[in-house]
This record gives sequence, C-alpha cells and structure tokens, in this order.
Amino acid sequence: MSVKTSPPLRTRPRPADEHPSGDPRFNLIDRTLKRFSFQQDALIEVLHTAQEAFGYLSDDLLIYVAHQLKLPLSWVYGVATFYHFFTLTPQGQHNCIVCMGTACYVKRAAEIVAALQQEFQVAAGGTTADGRLSLSTARCLGSCGLAPVLVLDGEVLPRETPESTLERVRQHLMTAGGRSAAQLAKNGGAGGAPDDEE
Ligand code: FES
Repeated sequence: MSVKTSPPLRTRPRPADEHPSGDPRFNLIDRTLKRFSFQQDALIEVLHTAQEAFGYLSDDLLIYVAHQLKLPLSWVYGVATFYHFFTLTPQGQHNCIVCMGTACYVKRAAEIVAALQQEFQVAAGGTTADGRLSLSTARCLGSCGLAPVLVLDGEVLPRETPESTLERVRQHLMTAGGRSAAQLAKNGGAGGAPDDEE
C-alpha cells in the first residue's frame, strides 16, 4: 500500500539581507551591531540606531539589543533610562525639550514648562492626545550661558520666557501644518506620564 504524503509547503525564499522579523528597520540595527563586532561597549551606539530607526525604544527593541550584545536586560534598560536623549515611549510629531538644570531653573524654566502644559494640555514626559507635540525636560543641555534654554524640533532656543516660548511653539505648530494652539488645547488631553522619565 502506498502512503500519500502532502507536498512540502513552499515558502517564499527570504532575500539574504531580509531580517527574520520582516521589518527592514532591524537591518539598520544589525548593521551597527556588525560594525562594532557585537561588542558590548557599543551599547549606546546601538541604542541610538534603534531609536533613530523606530522613533523610540520599545521593550521589544531593548530585549533584542540585550540579546544581540549578550547583556542583561536590566543593564540595557538602565542605560536607556539614564540618558535623557533616549525615550521609551512613542514621540509626537513635534518635540519640545525644556532644560530644568540649575541655571535654567533659576531663570523661570519651571514656569515655561507650566505654561506649555497648560496651553497644550500635555504633561512633561507626555504627548498631546492628537500626537502633535511631545514635551519633556532635561537636566542640563550644556548651554547654561543661554539660560533658560529649550530645544524645539532640534533647534536650540536661548533666553526664553513663558510668553516667548508659547508664541514660538504656537507658530511652529501652525507653520509646520498643524492646527492652532487653541484647537490643540480644546481637543487635546494629557497624553502621558506626569513626570519626565529621564
Ligand atoms: S542648566 Fe540649562 S543649559 Fe545648563
């Protein structure tokens, strides 16, 4: 008696450079890992690449990096949360970082944060409900002579006041194709944790 067996399943052959996850962004991380020969010292560079590729460091990414570098996940998590330039939550379309270091703090940085929170209905460390603006704080941005300092989408803004900051952010969101601040405040809601997570 002959036994019929079903033909082997044909799967699409995977291109040599395709990551097993199917997500090409992992290739960027893999390239950095290879460039540094998987050395554990390269952790910060690898995390940078991961954040650039994905926008933020999710749990899955931290696990992946820890596995690839053969580091304890707690170590990788500790580094990712120590440096303020890493974020573990998805970011908004626009990003505002207010320095709360001593030099900035004594020049009304806390008032700037409070004004932004009230105007855009967003907590420090969070993102507006519509995903348009993320607000975070940092300890010192290294420009104390320009205090108080904030960084709006990568641009350093020196000697700000609560009033000038609100005007700048409103203008920035509008010229960047966004809705007005009033609309943001009306439609928005606190979108994140109450404290910064640096
Ligand atoms: S304290 Fe703000 S730049 Fe140094």
